[in-house]
Parts: sequence; C-alpha cells; structure tokens
Amino acid sequence: MAQTTATALPKGFRGAELGWPELERIPHPPRRIPLVGDVFGADVRRPVQDSMRYGRLLGPVFRRKFFSREIVFVWGGSLAADLADESRFAKHVGLGVANLRPVAGDGLFTAYNHEPNWQLAHDVLAPGFSREAMAGYHPMMLDVAERLTGRWDAEQSAGRAVDVPGDMTKLTLETIARTGFGHDFGSFERARPHPFVNAMVGTLTFAQRRNVVPGPLTPLLLRGAARRNEADMAYLNHTVDEVVRARRTTRGEGDLLDRMLETAHPVTGERLTAENVRRQVITFLVAGHETTSGALSFALHYLSRHPDVAARAREEVDRVWGDVDRPGYDQVARLRYVRRVLDESLRLWPTAPAFAREAREDTVLYDTHPMRRGAWALVLTTMLHRDPQVWGADAERFDPDRFDAKAVRARAAHTFKPFGTGARACIGRQFALHEATLVLGLLLRRYELRPDPGYRLRVAERLTLMPEGLRLHLDRRAPVARTPAAVDDPSSQARCPVTGARD
Ligand code: HEM
Repeated sequence: MAQTTATALPKGFRGAELGWPELERIPHPPRRIPLVGDVFGADVRRPVQDSMRYGRLLGPVFRRKFFSREIVFVWGGSLAADLADESRFAKHVGLGVANLRPVAGDGLFTAYNHEPNWQLAHDVLAPGFSREAMAGYHPMMLDVAERLTGRWDAEQSAGRAVDVPGDMTKLTLETIARTGFGHDFGSFERARPHPFVNAMVGTLTFAQRRNVVPGPLTPLLLRGAARRNEADMAYLNHTVDEVVRARRTTRGEGDLLDRMLETAHPVTGERLTAENVRRQVITFLVAGHETTSGALSFALHYLSRHPDVAARAREEVDRVWGDVDRPGYDQVARLRYVRRVLDESLRLWPTAPAFAREAREDTVLYDTHPMRRGAWALVLTTMLHRDPQVWGADAERFDPDRFDAKAVRARAAHTFKPFGTGARACIGRQFALHEATLVLGLLLRRYELRPDPGYRLRVAERLTLMPEGLRLHLDRRAPVARTPAAVDDPSSQARCPVTGARD
C-alpha cells in the first residue's frame, strides 16, 4: 500500500489546474465568475445534491470552482471503473476528509497513504472485523436492537410516529460503542441526542463548510463556526479519553479497544501510541455509526413507500427466522432479499456520497484525460449509482431486484461503490451490512410501516447523507408461529453482490 515517490507533492489543497493539463476540455457550469468561480446559485448546505444537478447538466466528468479551488468530479461508470485501478490510482485525502484531520489526524480514515500508522492500524484492527469477531458482536447488536424495539413499542402504543434518523442514530451509536469499546452512551434513556452526537454533527458540518470557503477567508467567514468547532473537538476528545481511561482500569472482552491498546503488529511488534489510539477511537465511533444510521433510515423510507417490497422482505424474514426470539448470526446472512433492499437504498443514497482518487504516476484517465502524478478527482457515488449506461433509463426507480445474482453478474465491475474502493475501502463494511440487515429484519418482523402521506424525501448533508425529518407510523404485527426454514430458497443462494469477485 505504501507509496514511495521520487519527489514530494505540494502540501495542502491541490487545485485541478496543477494536475490536469487538458482541463479546458472538461465542462464547467455556465455563468462562471472571474475570481470567485462557480458560486452563482451554489447551494452550500447541500453540496452533493448541487453537484448531482451539475452532473446531470454537464455529463460524466465535469469541474466546479469555488474561489481559487477547482475540483474535477467523475461519475460515468467507465471513468469511475478506471479510477478504481489500484495500480494507477490511490485514495486522495482531500476536501472533507482532509478537513477532518484536526480531529481524526492519522486515524485510519483520514491517514495519508504514506503515513506508517495507516498500515500499522489496518493490520492490528483488521482481525476485529473477521467473521469470528463479527459473530461475537452479534448478540450485542441484538441487545441494542431490543432497546430500540422497546422504545418503538412504547411510541406505537402511545399512537406516536417514530423519529427514524434520530432513533437509527441512537441504535448505531450504541452498537459501535458497545461492540467496539464496551461503552454505553445511554442514548435510549435520553430525550435528546447524546452530546457526543451533537459534537460529531457539528464537526462534520464544519468540515463540509470549509470545502466551499477558501482557506485564507476561513477566519473571517467562519469565525463563530470555528470557535464552536474547537469546542466540539474538545468534547469528542474528552469523551474518548474517558472511555480509554475506564478501560485501562478494567479488562475488556477482546473488542476493538483491547486490540488498540494491547495488540502488537504481528510482524514488526509495533503498537499504537496513546495519541493514535485517541484518533482511532474517534474515527471508529464516528465512521462506525453515522453512515449506517443513514443507510437504515433510507431503507426504512423506501420500505414504507413500497408495500410490495416490504411484504416480500417480511415474507422472507418470517420464512428464514420463523418464530425464534433471537435470530442467530448465520440467519442474518440468509436474508438475501432484505440485503437487496439495503443495497438498493445504498445505491440511490450512498450515505458516504463521494470518495477521492489520485494518480500514483502520470497517466491518462480512460485513455481520454491526461493526469499528472498527484492529480485527483472526486467520484460522485450518488451519480455513479444513477448512470443510465450502467443502471438503465429507469435508474432513479427503487428496485431491489437490481441486486439479484443474475443482474449483479451482468453489470460492469466497479459500478456499485457505497463503501469506496481498493485498499482504503471501508474496513467496517461487513459490520455495517450485518447490523443493518439484522435490524431491518427485526423491524419488518415486528411492525408494519406507514409513511406520513405529506412527507417528501429531503436529504440533509453533513459530509454524510441523511433523510431529513423522516417520521413513520407503526402497527404491531401478530407474532409468527412457524419454525425457521431449514434450507434457503436455492434461487436466492446467490453470491454476495457486494463482496463478489467482480466488485
Ligand atoms: C453503511 C455504512 C457505511 C458506509 C456507507 C461506509 C462508507 C465508507 C467509505 C466510502 C469509505 C472510504 C472513504 C474514502 O475512500 O475516502 C469508508 C472507509 C472507512 N470506514 Fe466505512 N462505511 C460504513 C460503515 C462503517 C462502519 C460500521 C465502520 C466501523 C465499524 C466504518 C469504518 C471505516 C473506516 C475506519 C474507514 C477507513 C478505512 C481505511 O482507509 O483504511 N465504516 N467507509
């Protein structure tokens, strides 16, 4: 993974003009204004949806400029697949990811490729996501999910609609805190979000806003926000220090924190420093819940709007789980259709909506656009997942059958990328998929979901995506009196669409 390079690349933001010799061939929005760029009509609060609008207008590769900063966006399936070639491209730590460096430093998500702590932490922590480790987390995930259903039962009895993103955030924060760090934030016992969540949302929102405000103007334009961000970062650090301090006095159960504190690298014998452990704990607490919460929320929105899909998914849960109280670890992976619902939701709204790739050496993108070493592009996953050349003319339509085994095999490689790509792809992917499939299964089995007829999907952005103001009404279902199916429907024993070799 390490990239040794002959000469160092310039530090800080690298504008497109430095790396793309034929930049003028890439279209940009009309009405560009000298000095300030494409700020006319830009929606700074929803930059991803704004870029989607321009993507539709300008095509599969385009550029946008904010003040002196110009960025190339890519979403065409063929171009994005070329950027996935690990021999020529690697993760680029820029924009929002780079803006998180003050809080997450050289933690796994924000580390530069050349930083030694990336490889060290990756090797030490990867076994924490093995099948064996996941099976150990499963009962804890169930415990947290039961706290959610306890709350939803009470809301349902009182005739109140549930706050989906709020409760999914409680669920996923408690799950990663419990499984990774043996910690309980007590989210379900609180009327308001835990202050950790507020501080996290503040930090993510600030990192997003810094993308559109040029560096030298940050102190002027974002003075108040920068002060709040300092306070948010201090709160995150304080919380994490408390979690680590508590662990130093008691033994854990072999979770992620134990690995961080006690495990030496299997080859070099090196250990993570105290400062790096702090960075990793923040990274995992944030990366480990925010995106999964959004994925679950979007999936519940689509299930409530597509009763036929919900009925099919529910039928599968009843058939595979029967009336067992607590489904086993292996019974989750057998919910193939529920998993397709999740994949299709992540296709339309990949909750980490973009990732950046940089050229390892001088190269030509898809034999069309020359790039110098270090030049980079932002892959706009929300649009890649809507490319009509890949997904058809009805790409905007919600249809989980796009992820049946045959359809997946027929599709070009590297066109479904909710978890990023290559060596720096998401380490927590199986964790997220297991947790989300389990929770969707439990909720489908227990409730009918009724949407609010007046609700129109609005997507909030804070580096991640989340349905805004989504509330659902619930009806309790009668318990199922069946024994679980011994064998799955063979037609659904497909290769996993995400972990398949062609992805
Ligand atoms: C649906 C849920 C999730 C989505 C959509 C998601 C998405 C992503 C994406 C796109 C990346 C690559 C970012 C880039 O290239 O810059 C990434 C990296 C990462 N994710 Fe996730 N993620 C999810 C859940 C999780 C969970 C549950 C954890 C931890 C338990 C996690 C931990 C990480 C970490 C540590 C990295 C950095 C990996 C590295 O660079 O070595 N994520 N994730």
